[in-house]
Parts: sequence; C-alpha cells; structure tokens
Amino acid sequence: MKIGVFDSGVGGLTVLHALLDAIPQADYLYLGDTARLPYGSKSATTIARYAVSSVHFLLEQGAEYLVIACNTASALAMNDICAAVSTEVLGVIEPGARAASALSHSKNVCVIGTAATVGSHAYQRALAKLGVNAYEKACPLFVPLVEEGWTEHPVTEQVARIYLEELAREQCSNGNGKADVLVLGCTHYPLLKPLLHRVLPPDMQLVDSAQATAHDVAQHLGLAANTRRREPNIRFFATDSVDKFRLLGSRFLRREIAKVELITLPE
Ligand code: DGL
Repeated sequence: MKIGVFDSGVGGLTVLHALLDAIPQADYLYLGDTARLPYGSKSATTIARYAVSSVHFLLEQGAEYLVIACNTASALAMNDICAAVSTEVLGVIEPGARAASALSHSKNVCVIGTAATVGSHAYQRALAKLGVNAYEKACPLFVPLVEEGWTEHPVTEQVARIYLEELAREQCSNGNGKADVLVLGCTHYPLLKPLLHRVLPPDMQLVDSAQATAHDVAQHLGLAANTRRREPNIRFFATDSVDKFRLLGSRFLRREIAKVELITLPE
C-alpha cells in the first residue's frame, strides 16, 4: 500500500511520523507545497486550487490512498479534493474531532489552529455533529515560532499565555461550560505540547490530530501496526528549497531526511 501524504510544508511530517508508527508496513509519498506556504492565511479558493494540484501530483506518483495532513487544507479544500479524485481521502478534522469527543467529559472542547482553519469552523461543525461544543481560537504566531525552533522560548510561552487566556475568557462569558480538552488543530502544534502543558490548567487534555488521523487511517485500511518492523520506503517532494525542507523537516519527523525531490506544480 502506497499512502500519499499532503501538507502545505514540513508541518505534515508530524502526521507522517504518527503514520509510520501506526502503519510501518506501508510505503509513503510525502509532498510539502513549500513554495506556496503558508496556507493558513490564504482564502478558501486559493487553498483548494493549491491542494487539488498537489493531490493530483501524488496520484501521478502512484498514491493509492490520500491523507490530507494539513489542517487548513482539510478544513477548506476537502470537498474540492474529493470532487477532483476517485481515490479514498482522509483529512485530519474528523479524526481530531472524534478523538476530542471521546476524551471530553464536559462535552466542551477548545480548538486552536490557523486563521483559515478557525475561520472555516470546520472543527466546530465536526464537533457539533458529535454533540460537543467548541471554543475556537486562531493562533497565527505559533507556525513561524515553531519553524524558528522556538518551541521552548519564553516569547512563545508568553504568546501561548495570551492566546489561551483569551480562550479562557471566552469560556467564562459563554453559558455552555468549561472545556476539558484542547485540540491541536495545526500540523505544527504537536511540537508545542510540553510548553502548552505548562501553560494550561493541569486537568486539560491535549488531542493531537496527527495521532488521531494515523489511528483512523490504520482502521480504514484494516492495517494494524505490524510487529515485524520493516523500513518503509518514503519519497519526499517539495516545491521549494530541498535543503530547507531537509533541515526543518527532520525536526518535525524526528528522523533524518536524506533526500528530497524538487518538483513544480501546475497553477
Ligand atoms: N499545515 C498548516 C496547518 O496544519 C500550517 C502551516 C500553513 O499555514 O500552511 O494548518
């Protein structure tokens, strides 16, 4: 089985990392559309156009199943992607929402993500279908801070405190009740887990959409983690600097990336 994983850049490597853990017996094609990143500040039309051309490329390379690792593309381009391809596609929103719903006792959940993801209310809709109320907050500064490597920096901690205090205030002024789960609705946020745990109330649980998605892909494909590990074949593609992808990407994937192929996508 060859799984195509698509993201706007290197962030989706957190999803690939979780997939490698959950389904080591598959082979992977990973495309980071680094030339056109960030997606999180762009309009739905542009994101859908970029995402559709990206998944077409993965299919041309032989992908048999598609994972949209990018929260922003999953939130805003899923309908366009599904209409453009006949292959099975899974985004990160539904798995993340299901995991949050299963974990929440209060049925109130906070979601953080890019401006585009939060503006789309895709998580809110997915959670509402499961009977869960969502408080959403765009945290646009987190992506550049994580890419800068400032995952433990005091500036990032200060930024996190400001964002999360705003979320807490919203919960106080809303009659629905207090959230007990925070959904990390962006590929970059799993790298902030230790910092967020320090800033959040101790009883707040974190849901990582990357892990939830990998778990769901394994279930959809009927592939449980194989006990006999083999080294999966992974090909990496980027639309901009392969050196930057290799350097930055290794932090997100938590393993060395030896080779990245530079490609150009049609507009
Ligand atoms: N991959 C994006 C996401 O998960 C974050 C980076 C971007 O804005 O392109 O929403």
